[in-house]
Amino acid sequence: MDLEKYIRVIEDFPVKGISFKDVTTLLKDGEAFKYAIKHMADKIRNEKIDLVVGPEARGFLFGAPIAYELGVGFVPVRKPGKLPGETMKYEYHLEYGSDSLEIHKDAIKPGDRIAVIDDLLATGGTILSAVKLIESLGGIVVHIGFLIELEELMGRKSLSEYNISSIIKY
Ligand code: PRP
Repeated sequence: MDLEKYIRVIEDFPVKGISFKDVTTLLKDGEAFKYAIKHMADKIRNEKIDLVVGPEARGFLFGAPIAYELGVGFVPVRKPGKLPGETMKYEYHLEYGSDSLEIHKDAIKPGDRIAVIDDLLATGGTILSAVKLIESLGGIVVHIGFLIELEELMGRKSLSEYNISSIIKY
């Protein structure tokens, strides 16, 4: 299945110059969504993953169903002030703007094998901060999976020591 045709590209959103890759058009198609989740899960099926971690918000849309497909737990990485328990915080930079992310301190045990999942790799700032949070808790990042990769932003550069996969490349 050619998943790229289910992604809607909207120019100059949220600001001028950004060519936004809209995954809502893929999510609303049951067959394409199922195919995307199975395909992304296949990349880590044999990796003995303990947990899937996904960053808010679109990382939840792909990370949680992949965890379910693999029969493992899902851990959310959230924007500040959303998680109720004790958290670790990490500051990061986005394609547009900057923010910080948090994870529950007790969500990951040292030695846990983790797959990190997000919808899209742009600069890599979001996923790198998720990786830092996971590693600060002793987790091992076994794989980082994206649906979409924006190759010209070279997010892979900052993630060169990790196994990365993406399904659709722009
Ligand atoms: C988008 C996207 C990735 C991130 C990619 O999320 O879902 O998480 O940006 O950019 P980067 O590689 O440059 O960090 P966004 O922060 O817009 O939040 P959302 O998922 O809540 O819409």
